[in-house]
Amino acid sequence: MMPSGPIELSRNQAFINGVWCGADDGASFAVLNPATGEQLAALLTLEQGKPLAESRVEIAYAASFLEWYGEEGKRVYGDVIPPHRADNRIVVSKQPVGVCAGITPWNFPSAMVTRKAAPALGAGCTMVLKPAEQTPLSALAIAALGEAAGLPPGVLSIVTTDAAGAPAIGAELTSNPTVRKLGFTGSTVVGKLLMAQCAANVQKVTLELGGNAPFIVMDDADLDAAIAGALVCKYRNTGQTCISANRIMVQDGVFDAFVERFTAGAKALTVGLGTETASMLGPLIDDQGLDKVEAHVADAIAKGATLHTGGARHALGQTFYQPTVLTGIAPEMAICNEETIGPVAGIMHFNNEEEVLRMANDTPYGLVAYFYSRDVGRIWRLSEGLEYGMIGINTGMISTEVAPFGGIKESGIGRYGSHQGIDEYLEAKYMCMGGIDA
Ligand code: SIN
Repeated sequence: MMPSGPIELSRNQAFINGVWCGADDGASFAVLNPATGEQLAALLTLEQGKPLAESRVEIAYAASFLEWYGEEGKRVYGDVIPPHRADNRIVVSKQPVGVCAGITPWNFPSAMVTRKAAPALGAGCTMVLKPAEQTPLSALAIAALGEAAGLPPGVLSIVTTDAAGAPAIGAELTSNPTVRKLGFTGSTVVGKLLMAQCAANVQKVTLELGGNAPFIVMDDADLDAAIAGALVCKYRNTGQTCISANRIMVQDGVFDAFVERFTAGAKALTVGLGTETASMLGPLIDDQGLDKVEAHVADAIAKGATLHTGGARHALGQTFYQPTVLTGIAPEMAICNEETIGPVAGIMHFNNEEEVLRMANDTPYGLVAYFYSRDVGRIWRLSEGLEYGMIGINTGMISTEVAPFGGIKESGIGRYGSHQGIDEYLEAKYMCMGGIDA
């Protein structure tokens, strides 16, 4: 039953087995607003820094997983299989895998929590979730809402920690035999480590790991649409998504026009506090994120890239960085091989379809690729040739709860969202009954 009074959403304690509790030794850690460096008590925009309009979109996105998997739980069908013998009957039922763990990142502090917890709970599992140390408050608010909505104790627990405590919690969540499954979104390096730890108990995993997304613009593309799509794909959430365009590849015939107009678009973006309505880009999450962006830009320029705009910290200080455009990106540059996770667009050119397929697939990652073309044959050839789990065709926005989100190669295992997402939290049980009189 929902409480009659207001629900307290600003929580600063972990939520374990239905109880709000602090650390045994009284320890706590600060959650900093990257825009101002303050300690804070407000939620998504304040703890993550993204513009309020983007936070509202994220909250709706987060809620969509709860609604979707609330419904999908009703459709956990098994199978009745024609038997191999006349005196047998074969039935396959689906059962929850049991206690699940979730480890979520800071770039979508609400949506990544519900993307894991909703299918787990919809399947009948319980979940212990560790949010990122930079953004635990949104996860705690979701737990508070769950508590208020009548979620039984222990169905969703949130364990918080600072960076120093994360390895110990990760070790517990991957070695405790009670935990039957881990869902993780984060870097490939950490994902591999967690997967290795899960191997000891043969714990199931769903891993959404790093990407290195190519964003391809063919000569025949609708250039206005391609530029608009590239701007949103690159600069949404200040470039801090695992599906941000990381390598923008433009065919020779439209290269100059694309660069000129894309750069104008980047220059027009307003950087500011997430709480200010005019802001389109917020700060980077922390100093480490800023260091990586600066290192990628410096490396690219040192190796011959051309700077068209940006290329430096923003006058607002803290971790704000200018929207940046570089051309002359080459395979030996860090920006071509690692996710920048920031507002830096690296643009390269190519001559033909075969060349761009080779360039796009030349990476161990396979999360998402985007391309713009109006040629039907080319659309199919590229869609089938790109070695990625998700393909955006004439769009830079693919995220939705109704579609399976996930990667191949070193970008992960399994899928979130869609009817496939709930299967990640279910085991098939095959029951063979013999001795049936014919
Ligand atoms: C992510 O960056 O991990 C998720 C992005 C999305 O769902 O849009």
